Parts: sequence; structure tokens; C-alpha cells
Amino acid sequence: MADTTERGRYPLSVLSFAPDDMPNVPARSRVTVSPPSSPPARPFLKWAGGKRQLLPQLGRFVPQSFGAYCEPFLGSGALYFDLESRGCLEGRRAVLMDNNPDLIGAWLAIRQDPEAVIRALRRLATAHRADAKTTYYRVRDERFNPARADLLERGGRWSEGYNASLAAMFVYLNRTGFNGLFRLNNAGRFNVPVGRYANPRICDAPNLRAVSTVLSRPGVEVREDRFESVCEWAMPGDFIYFDPPYAPTSATASFTAYTPGGFDVDAQRRLQMVVVELARRGCHVLLSNSTAPEITALYADNVVARAAGLRAVRVSARRAINSRGGSRGAVDEYLISNVPSQD
Ligand SMILES: C[S@@+](CC[C@H](N)C(=O)[O-])C[C@H]1O[C@@H](n2cnc3c(N)ncnc32)[C@H](O)[C@@H]1O
Repeated sequence: MADTTERGRYPLSVLSFAPDDMPNVPARSRVTVSPPSSPPARPFLKWAGGKRQLLPQLGRFVPQSFGAYCEPFLGSGALYFDLESRGCLEGRRAVLMDNNPDLIGAWLAIRQDPEAVIRALRRLATAHRADAKTTYYRVRDERFNPARADLLERGGRWSEGYNASLAAMFVYLNRTGFNGLFRLNNAGRFNVPVGRYANPRICDAPNLRAVSTVLSRPGVEVREDRFESVCEWAMPGDFIYFDPPYAPTSATASFTAYTPGGFDVDAQRRLQMVVVELARRGCHVLLSNSTAPEITALYADNVVARAAGLRAVRVSARRAINSRGGSRGAVDEYLISNVPSQD
């Protein structure tokens, strides 16, 4: 009989799995599921390439048991929040990483002091309602960029210096800027224009509190890092979901410049080596990407990737299909994994 509960999106076996199917995974790491007691935390950002629409497809490749969970390309963390809300991450380590210092700075500041972020966001929301355009450009040019420049001068991993005021501005600019983009110019200044939203939801206080609560759980780590660093600690049985900037299927099809330097063919090759290495190590890996020819060559048609147990499956996803983001259509994407699909 079909599972009609709130967590019915995944096969029941994902949620209460057989104990002996992964002898290498210690008992403490097996998935146990309990329903959430308060409203579940959801992504607090709109993020280019966010994976909300793909969640049912991704769920087919969530292993029945696993050790730690890791997302090296965190963005808005759609799969992390989904797994968390379903109790799939209870009692286990979760390592959430991205190399965008502003993004990680905002995650850290919300975890640390959600009430201060909420207070600052409420002030921004009030000013935005009075005069959207003036408020947006004042915040962007007179407050956000100068405050970032101060942090940047410190060098190193400056996400840790993000305070509640900067995090609130980051969330505000994300909710009200054009398509929620995060784009820096050559001088490293955030330069996204204001978006056209009649009534943007700027401050979702209950969700920010819920986000802070789940991120404060023991075992949850949020850090600014490059995806390669997962190789330094991942153990057999861990589950790693890679959602990199997609390889463009045409010269204009994809937005890949989340941070200066973008994510070029060489980065896709380095990523393939990491994914293959982790699959050989006995980790459960799942990767989403476009069906660009180089991705087919790196995974679907690649002898080394196939020998490591990786299989590439084409799935259909609804995406913005032009540069204005207004028009949407179904496009094929790859899900690449060594976890057998649960259909
Ligand atoms: C497609 S988005 C991830 C979207 C995310 N899954 C979600 O649901 O919102 C890709 C992310 O990779 C990050 N990124 C780009 N290059 C990176 C690198 N070399 N190491 C780590 N993260 C990187 C970007 O900052 C961006 O947040």
C-alpha cells in the first residue's frame, strides 16, 4: 500500500531501512526517522540552480543507510533541508560547505543570532515597503559593499566575520534583487540590480528561527571551503551530494559565475576525479549536472567512472530556459550516482 504520510515522497525503505544491508556502517549511523516537532526549516534564499523542483528525483538516490551527510555545493541547501525535515539526518554529522564567503557568512550568522538578523531584516523590510528602489540601491552601494570591503581586507576565510547586519542585508538583497542572483563585478562588488516584485517576502522570522535551531544541532558543520576538501575526511558509508554549477549546454544557457572564476571545464574534471575517488572509497555519491557533452564524456561514457560504480540517469526538470528567467520549460539533467535508484 502506498505511504500516504507527510514523508511519503521517499520510498518507505529510505525512511526505515533494513539494518544489515551495510555491514560497514556502524549501528549509530543508521537512519532513524522521527517526525519534526515544530515547522520544518526551509531554504531561506532563492539560489540560482536551487534544487527544490528536483527533490522527488533526488530522493530516489538517497541511500537506505549512511554515515555522515555532506553537501559541498550548499547554495540554499534544498536537499539538506528536505532530508533534515524528514528526520533522515537525526543523530548524524552533516557537513555543509560552499566556497562563497557571503553565502556561508549568512548561514553562520543566522545560526549564531537569528533574532539579531530578524530585527535587522524587519527594518530593511519596512524601508523597502516605503521606497523599494531607493532602499535597495542605498543598501547595496552604501552599506553592503563597503561592509564587505572591510571584511575582504582581512583576507582568509572571512565568512566567519559576517555579522547579523551583513547577513540581513545579504538576505534582503537576495529576496529583492533581480532573480535572487549573487553576482560580483571585476572589482569584487555585488552589482545585481533591483528586481521587480510587487510584495517580496523579506523577513520570514519563524523560518529563520527554525533554520538556526537545526543548524545548532550537535554534528552540524557549516563552513567556507572548496569542494575538494571533502576528500580529506569522507569515510566509507558517508553520503555526499554534489550540486556544482552546471556545465553550460550552450554559450548562454547556464549561469555558472557564482563566484569570481566561475566553474569551468577544468573544475568539472577535478570534480569528476573527486567523485570517482569517493565512490572507490565506498562513499555513497550523488551528483546533479547538465547533459552537456563534457559531462556525458566525464561520466556516462567514461570507463573509469563506470568502473567506480557510477551510473548516469537522465531526468526531466523544470528550469528557467532563457536569460531573463521568465520563461520555464522541461530540460534534461543528469543524476549520477553509485546508489541504486529506488523506483
Ligand atoms: C547549483 S548551486 C547549488 C544549489 C543548491 N543545491 C541549492 O539547492 O540551492 C552551486 C553552488 O556551488 C558553489 N561553488 C562554486 N564553485 C565552488 C567550489 N569550487 N567549491 C565549493 N563550492 C562552489 C556556488 O557558490 C553555489 O552556491
